[in-house]
Amino acid sequence: MLDGLPPSQAAGAVERLIAAYRGDTPTHAPILRDRADVAAYAAYRMPATFEAVRSALGAFADAVPGWVPGSHVDVGGGTGAATWAVTDTWAGTRPVTVLDWAEPALALGRELAAANPALAGARWQRARIGSGLDLEPADLLTVSYVLNELTESDRTALVDAAAAAARSVVIVEAGTPAGYARVIEARDRLIRAGFEIAAPCPHSAACPIAPGT
Ligand SMILES: C[S@@+](CC[C@H](N)C(=O)[O-])C[C@H]1O[C@@H](n2cnc3c(N)ncnc32)[C@H](O)[C@@H]1O
Repeated sequence: MLDGLPPSQAAGAVERLIAAYRGDTPTHAPILRDRADVAAYAAYRMPATFEAVRSALGAFADAVPGWVPGSHVDVGGGTGAATWAVTDTWAGTRPVTVLDWAEPALALGRELAAANPALAGARWQRARIGSGLDLEPADLLTVSYVLNELTESDRTALVDAAAAAARSVVIVEAGTPAGYARVIEARDRLIRAGFEIAAPCPHSAACPIAPGT
């Protein structure tokens, strides 16, 4: 995917993405704007987001042995790291839908997925996360490294839509105090909607970890 991309352009895209992801400012336009951005994302960041999601899914699978998702929706899925992690965690095929507002990311995700037979039927669809977000019912819904790019109201809309549409929700965020706060906010909201926590914490009571520690 990097063939044909001048090294200086790839390096420039990586620098820009690092700066964008270091900030916590919600974005009002896609950060992944073009082919150089998404190729850079797939090369320098996607392997790490894949591993983080795979680790979270592994903890989930251990907590709910024998359960296999019959369908998967990946919201803010970008180039599809979470779809690869799901197919790596549970064998077999299932309907997969990837939603994102960045068309270049979906296009590259679709190209990469051609190498994964379990993603052969995946649908890569343009969607904007917000109050109008319409989610189809799914056994498993993943939200990986997305909450930090959303405004508070869009985060709330996404978690509420996820709670209404999915049987299980896996959220992955950066392991920073701000990322922890966003996970706890979503966790509390999902519990109020009737969800039980499977992993990594083994209970649905209030989290005893004090924010910022
Ligand atoms: C850091 S990337 C994570 C991509 C993928 N989930 C992963 O783990 O590698 C954040 C993704 O969220 C998408 N995103 C951010 N805000 C969005 C919004 N309001 N509506 C739809 N997608 C959004 C971006 O386009 C991008 O693909």
